[in-house]
Amino acid sequence: MAEMGIYETMRTLRAVRRLRPDPIPADVLRRVLEAATWAPTGGNVQPWRIVVVFGESPVVAVFCFNPKNMAITDAKQARVSVVGGGSVYTAVENLLLACRAEGLGCVLTTLLCECEPEVRKLLAIPDPWYTAAAIPIGYPVGRGHGPLIRRPVEQLAYLDSWGQANLTGWLK
Ligand SMILES: Cc1cc2nc3c(=O)[nH]c(=O)nc-3n(C[C@H](O)[C@H](O)[C@H](O)COP(=O)(O)O)c2cc1C
Repeated sequence: MAEMGIYETMRTLRAVRRLRPDPIPADVLRRVLEAATWAPTGGNVQPWRIVVVFGESPVVAVFCFNPKNMAITDAKQARVSVVGGGSVYTAVENLLLACRAEGLGCVLTTLLCECEPEVRKLLAIPDPWYTAAAIPIGYPVGRGHGPLIRRPVEQLAYLDSWGQANLTGWLK
């Protein structure tokens, strides 16, 4: 398969929830898992692991994380902490992008976290490891990937101060 450019890969990576039962070749699976390892993490600690399981989808990649091993610089703020997740979801995104580039469909799901105790037991996940995402992966039914519906960059990126959307002359 021809290599996809990174921008095209990002621009067409969307949630693919209908997967064919066809198995994923071992070399392809290895490549997408290895892509996850290239992600940046706080202090380069890589406080995540993937348990690969097989079920209704050809593969489900269950991402686990170790909060004791994370640089969580916003832990003391009086709001929900998000920085720790940045040392897991970078790897998740790398995996998703690699799947897209390989022609595999996938979707980042988090609802499994609601039954985390059962999942930890089932997959023998030890303390202090927890679950962050479960990603079903397989070849898409139909076309799978395609254009995304997203807000335009002018609404999401500001110039100098919050809400300054006048990017004329800066973003063309
Ligand atoms: C943090 C996060 C959690 C998500 N959790 C779920 C989920 O539990 N189940 C699901 O089907 N999709 C889940 N998604 C996928 C989003 O619903 C999807 O990416 C979004 O609606 C945009 O759709 P698109 O990627 O097809 O453009 C999640 C995505 C993110 C980033």
